[in-house]
Amino acid sequence: MQQYIIGNWKMNNTKAEALKLASGLLNRVQNAPRPLPHIILCPSFPYLVPVVEVLKNTAIDVGGQDSHPETSGAFTGNVSIAQLKDVGCTYVIIGHSERRHHHHESSTLIKSKVAAALKTGLRPILCIGESAEEREGGHALSIIARQLETDLPEDIDPTLLLIAYEPLWAIGSGHTPTLEQIEEVMGLIKHELSARRAGGAIVPTLYGGSANALNASSLLNLPHVDGLLIGGASLKVDEFWQIINASQR
Ligand code: PGA
Repeated sequence: MQQYIIGNWKMNNTKAEALKLASGLLNRVQNAPRPLPHIILCPSFPYLVPVVEVLKNTAIDVGGQDSHPETSGAFTGNVSIAQLKDVGCTYVIIGHSERRHHHHESSTLIKSKVAAALKTGLRPILCIGESAEEREGGHALSIIARQLETDLPEDIDPTLLLIAYEPLWAIGSGHTPTLEQIEEVMGLIKHELSARRAGGAIVPTLYGGSANALNASSLLNLPHVDGLLIGGASLKVDEFWQIINASQR
């Protein structure tokens, strides 16, 4: 499976910085001497339109960092999946731990967002992951299995869905699980998806949490890792480009 490298810019960049990052990356992609993984950039909402303009009809896709499950309505401050699609997004991150934590997003809400994205034809990147306490208590695998159960709608379209395993304690911390721990969780995700959902075997499974230019190659070489979701290290074009080039498929 071709791998995915996703840049989650979070609440960073000015418009000028966002455009510089997008066009700098595009320049390298267009001059790349070899096939590259799927590349997706997820800017903050105000910069979606200008970034889409720069990347229109290129090999780089654009995604939203979150969305509301309803198509339209009186939801001040929210953005719908239909609106993301309307401005040219093809992906949307759903259930990121920063949304779950700071905005108290429940599994029920997250599930409805995934269902809305699948229905609208936008590719949802569902983030799941355990806390430090859950990992230390030996519950990481059961937490992941439960999240797959509670956060995914009954009917998934396996050609659209992506799953990102992001342990909460690894995000922005400089710490990552061992390669064995990552492979164990990714194997569980693949097993659960193929055992319980029609077509689940083809859903790409990504790792995220303190992935960077130094560890990208060993992470991307793990058999069950189909890509990386990158936060901090996606904000510098040189480092992000190194990560992209660490992918061999
Ligand atoms: P990080 O963030 O790469 O900065 O750890 C990853 C994420 O939150 O998706």
